[in-house]
Amino acid sequence: MTRSRDPASALPPARDTAPPEAGAAAPRGLAADALAGLSGSPKRLSSKYFYDDRGSRLFERIMRLPSYYPTRVEAAMLRRHARDLLDALDTGGSPIEMLELGSGDGRKTLALCRAWLKAGAELVYRPMDISAQALDQLSARMARQLPALAVHPLCGDYFQTWPIPSARRRQVALFLGSNLGNFTDEEARRFLRRVRAHLRRGDSLLLGLDLRKDPHTVLAAYDDPEGVTAAFNLNLLRRLNRELGMDFDLDRFRHYASYCPLQGVARSFLVSQARQTVRSALLRREFHFGAGEFIYTEQSQKYERAGVEAMAADTGFELRAWFEDPALPYALVACRATG
Ligand SMILES: C[S@@+](CC[C@H](N)C(=O)[O-])C[C@H]1O[C@@H](n2cnc3c(N)ncnc32)[C@H](O)[C@@H]1O
Repeated sequence: MTRSRDPASALPPARDTAPPEAGAAAPRGLAADALAGLSGSPKRLSSKYFYDDRGSRLFERIMRLPSYYPTRVEAAMLRRHARDLLDALDTGGSPIEMLELGSGDGRKTLALCRAWLKAGAELVYRPMDISAQALDQLSARMARQLPALAVHPLCGDYFQTWPIPSARRRQVALFLGSNLGNFTDEEARRFLRRVRAHLRRGDSLLLGLDLRKDPHTVLAAYDDPEGVTAAFNLNLLRRLNRELGMDFDLDRFRHYASYCPLQGVARSFLVSQARQTVRSALLRREFHFGAGEFIYTEQSQKYERAGVEAMAADTGFELRAWFEDPALPYALVACRATG
């Protein structure tokens, strides 16, 4: 990791405001999760908090890094298999509501939407994300590059929100970018069951999943020499400083990434470089760190086909099609909600 240059320096300065006063309102989820996560052992923070405005912009830079293969591979596969996917979902010509969970800036989905419109599908695109900034970017891009597409963004948490389905449209839920891999196996199953509970029989789910491959390739994707992933990970502490009135010194924590080929899991951590105490004005708490103690911030599961098939069957889905990139193993998986 290059630590001499701040990879976020190309971004506008972070708007770190004065720490909120104790008792001021903060997002309830973040406050409760940070309190529990930083009080436990090992310390943990959920990867869903990466995506404030600055985090979303840093993630866009990660997606353009040469070492971050998932975006590149998935984008090419979506272009290549767009028609095959539409056929596999077998919507019987019904109008489609494409609901993308955690859409980000929707760059990859644009090609899919374009191909489906070209194929004559009557399509409404409903990107859902907790980042308003990502949705604004997405809407501007779609309006510019695919004005024929009806786009209805929904800013919210996919654990709490789901649009009321239209009686005349088939819902196709998209969960791309191997985001499922950020969940543990148990969480992933719970998430898929939740998605299944919202879908009606005959609706579909389209997953983009990273597969097991050379451990060096995987590790490089989470530990780029440019240090953008490190800045993205550390931005989580910047967010806690801003939103929970904490006093993390970012120079006293360091990004660490690992990949375990036995489990097929990449993990990211923030490691305390010294013994230190961090305070939160809003939580009215102190958190102690030993030298070398870490906060576990993200996991990224790499999958095998048999495991995905079992998980789909176990959560109320039937696997309809599996497209795989053989050069850099990655899968697009079309599933149908079963009875
Ligand atoms: C890793 S990015 C992937 C974006 C896009 N799916 C892709 O493949 O490029 C994850 C996105 O999910 C969003 N996200 C994370 N947790 C979420 C949640 N609970 N509800 C809605 N969106 C969420 C983030 O804001 C971010 O834009």
